[in-house]
Amino acid sequence: MCGIVGYVGSKLADSVLLFGLYRLEYRGYDSAGVAVIDEGEIEVRKDQGKIRNLEKLLKEHPVEGNLGIGHTRWATHGEPNSVNAHPQFDTTKSIAVVHNGIIENFDTIRRDLQKKNVIFVSETDTEVIPQLLNFFGKEIKNDYELLKKTIESLHGRFAFLVIMENKPDKIFFSRNGSPLVYGRSEGEGFLVSDSSAFIASVKEQYFIKDGEWGWISKAGIEIFDQEGNKIVPILTSVDHDLTQYEKNGFDHFMLKEIFEQPSVVQKIIDNRITAEGKIHFPELALSNDFQAKLFRVVFTSAGTSLHAAMIGKLYIERFAKIMTEVEFSSEFRYRNPILEGDTLVVAISQSGETADTLASIHSAKAKFLKVLSFVNHLNSSIGRESTGIVNLFAGTEIGVASTKAYVAELVNLLLYSLYLGKLKWIVSDEEIGLILEEIKKLPSQIESILSKAEDIRKIAVEMREKRDFIFLGRSFEHPTALEGALKLKEISYAHASGYAGGEFKHGPIALVSKEVPVICICPKNEVYIKMVSNLEEVRARNGIIFSIYTEGDTHVPSLSNYSFSIPECSEYIVPILSVIPLQLLAYYVAIAKGCEPDQPRNLAKAVTVE
Ligand code: M6R
Repeated sequence: MCGIVGYVGSKLADSVLLFGLYRLEYRGYDSAGVAVIDEGEIEVRKDQGKIRNLEKLLKEHPVEGNLGIGHTRWATHGEPNSVNAHPQFDTTKSIAVVHNGIIENFDTIRRDLQKKNVIFVSETDTEVIPQLLNFFGKEIKNDYELLKKTIESLHGRFAFLVIMENKPDKIFFSRNGSPLVYGRSEGEGFLVSDSSAFIASVKEQYFIKDGEWGWISKAGIEIFDQEGNKIVPILTSVDHDLTQYEKNGFDHFMLKEIFEQPSVVQKIIDNRITAEGKIHFPELALSNDFQAKLFRVVFTSAGTSLHAAMIGKLYIERFAKIMTEVEFSSEFRYRNPILEGDTLVVAISQSGETADTLASIHSAKAKFLKVLSFVNHLNSSIGRESTGIVNLFAGTEIGVASTKAYVAELVNLLLYSLYLGKLKWIVSDEEIGLILEEIKKLPSQIESILSKAEDIRKIAVEMREKRDFIFLGRSFEHPTALEGALKLKEISYAHASGYAGGEFKHGPIALVSKEVPVICICPKNEVYIKMVSNLEEVRARNGIIFSIYTEGDTHVPSLSNYSFSIPECSEYIVPILSVIPLQLLAYYVAIAKGCEPDQPRNLAKAVTVE
């Protein structure tokens, strides 16, 4: 979703802002802009489309100045054109604002101001912020009072930055629900949506908390809590792992991240399995007593992370025998669910910023429940607001389509369910030992699948004209079918639906034809025979089948038009392997259709608004 960058220092602001905006590009956006204070006046450059359009504009019409704000906008209110792009202004064009989130009472504020002859030019909710600042600023001359009064007038979830011509040394900020990080280096200050947008000289950072607001200057930061009390931020060091932001020879981040999966799993093994063969979660922060007494687990998440939760449910029920439910966080937050003691709410989120998942955590905590989050960024909003935490160890994921984070979610969930099972005396050390041995084989097994990526590419090329796909799987492979379908539709724009194999006869079978390939995940497991029946049903109707099967099986390939094998393993391990050919299929279909897989249309990496 929207990305924010602010800079004050001695460098040319436009180049620092552009650098930061390119780094935030992965979040998804449809227009970009900057505002810089140039010789006392605010200069704005903004355009719809890619950041390179903005860069071109800046080359044609340069701005000079050492203080500015920049933005990538993912449209919510008003179409993605240059008028609605940020920065937005007040009528005098002396106050500029960039904003992430939604001002829920914007319509009321707008109507009130219009009655007082304030003229609005955009369709955005954001424009009320500079207009309010200008309106209140006629009476209030003190920075603290002006900002406080303006923030108190706004309802919703947001993070915003403001620059003003009559206060040319400061960038004002406020955070209430959308991420914002302050960075500092000698004589310089930065405010960004996430630390990836910092230039290399930034060594210290502070994650601004909800309700906090204030301003930065070359000299540092002045920051206040919701009540207006001054606070002293504790800065932490910045980790600049630049390799995460390079494609390292791959054509796209998505492909690079698919190929990083063996090393991601190895990192999880190194961090979670001790030399003595014990599973440990040092960062968990939940007592063993509490976990041993758990009666119920409720997962809350969205998209790919929801599919991981569905597999997590099967793991926890199997190994820890705890009743487990999976909830869309967008539903859970409004449902007033029945939650009582001895229940653990588990939030799964790659970004750690998904608005619905964050709101679910708030509803659980309001009922005094403990929340455990599986996140890729420990300092994310979801990570910080949870009672306990599990680090996914996936490394920064740039591609909008989640791949390595999903596999990291599955491996961590499998390990956590074994850990819980041991605490509850359900699973024996011997069984744990056998599964750990299988987990240790995963990096090389994933490598062997990736070494056959070309086979998937050829199948993808043959399928590129198809507009509809069905994915079928049962048991542990039902969520894999959902995930395979989601991957394909989000980056190739083909319509794809995933179903439990047993549901096929209840409707989807009506779609079978040569034009609707059926992707069947049928490893050798307890429901193998049932999946074979699904294959027969498709064959009987002259449908096209692409199957994922277990190495050594000859029957499934003989029933299929296309097939791809994965190594033999237990059914708990299969979903970690079977999703990989489906990730590759989605990627190669997208490429064959000429789509851009890293930044699919309309999608954002972190869905920070509802
Ligand atoms: O960051 P989260 O894991 O909370 O994100 C949840 C979904 O928005 C995300 O998985 C989305 O479905 C991806 N585009 C899937 O590839």
